[in-house]
Amino acid sequence: MNPLHTGIPSTLPQGAPPLRHYLQFADFSADEYHYVLQRAAFIKHKFKTFVRHQPLVDRTLAMIFEKASTRTRVSFEAGMYQLGGSVVHLTTGDSQLGRAEPIEDSAKVISRMVDLVMIRTFEQTKIERFAAHSRVPVINGLTNEFHPCQILADIFTYIEHRGPIQGKTVAWVGDGNNMANTWLQAANILGFKVHVSTPGGYEVDQAVAGVRSSDSYQVFADPMQACAGADLVTTDVWTSMGFEAENETRKAAFADWCVDTAMMQAAKPDALFMHCLPAHRGEEVQAEVIDGPQSVVWDEAENRMHVQKALMEYLLLGRLD
Ligand code: CP
Ligand code: NVA
Repeated sequence: MNPLHTGIPSTLPQGAPPLRHYLQFADFSADEYHYVLQRAAFIKHKFKTFVRHQPLVDRTLAMIFEKASTRTRVSFEAGMYQLGGSVVHLTTGDSQLGRAEPIEDSAKVISRMVDLVMIRTFEQTKIERFAAHSRVPVINGLTNEFHPCQILADIFTYIEHRGPIQGKTVAWVGDGNNMANTWLQAANILGFKVHVSTPGGYEVDQAVAGVRSSDSYQVFADPMQACAGADLVTTDVWTSMGFEAENETRKAAFADWCVDTAMMQAAKPDALFMHCLPAHRGEEVQAEVIDGPQSVVWDEAENRMHVQKALMEYLLLGRLD
């Protein structure tokens, strides 16, 4: 027998569930979200009470960044260490990814050495191509089209503050971007409504958002009307990463899509304000709103870590209770 052949398959840990990726919000069912959100609360409570929770000892997460990040990097990195694992951080500039090694080859190699991969990149097709050739779960850490980990954290944060999101109304004010698309998917799956208001030319595109019907969202020309009666008002930068060349045109087009105190007053009295951050005070949101009493943006940022810990655990180990 060849002494180098151990017979151990270099794929997922023993007893692991079938290979799943998390490339967009629609990749999980409502039932799976129910589990992952409950599990995030359990994991967060353990962390806050200094009870060690390390189901991913000896497991490694590769994080590939083709765009800048603060929250996504820190939350995944800290979260993976807390789970007992370790991380490898790669960027386009410091790896062969930036020297045109095919994505497919990169996926085959990286996924033989690590147990999970998180990718922040441009087109959704890039992460899909990587996942198609990966032996291990791939997580979307933001693409031009989607930001599912952020919306997972936002929904967890809403539930923490106000209870179930089912039947509620979320007002989206601003760009029809990756965040807006992901809100539309989440509304479809979890049974809430999104009021979308964007300037002309920056609308959400149902096909890009990957939703089949407009049942769970409604478009408003006037952002004040979108906010009327909302349970949650949320926005994002006017210019997303990768679109910097459009910055000046966008500033002019979006001038009336700044979430201000009047919009918050149009929403329900107990409405929350969220922003995935980074924020530009005086552009998409007034300082009085993001720094005001209805804002939960710091909880929202922190919760990235707790929900992603639950997500990584679920992808690698499946349901544990
Ligand atoms: N919200 C978010 O994804 O932040 P970063 O760009 O800092 O990761
Ligand atoms: N829509 C923003 C989100 C940043 C976290 C972007 O893609 O740049």
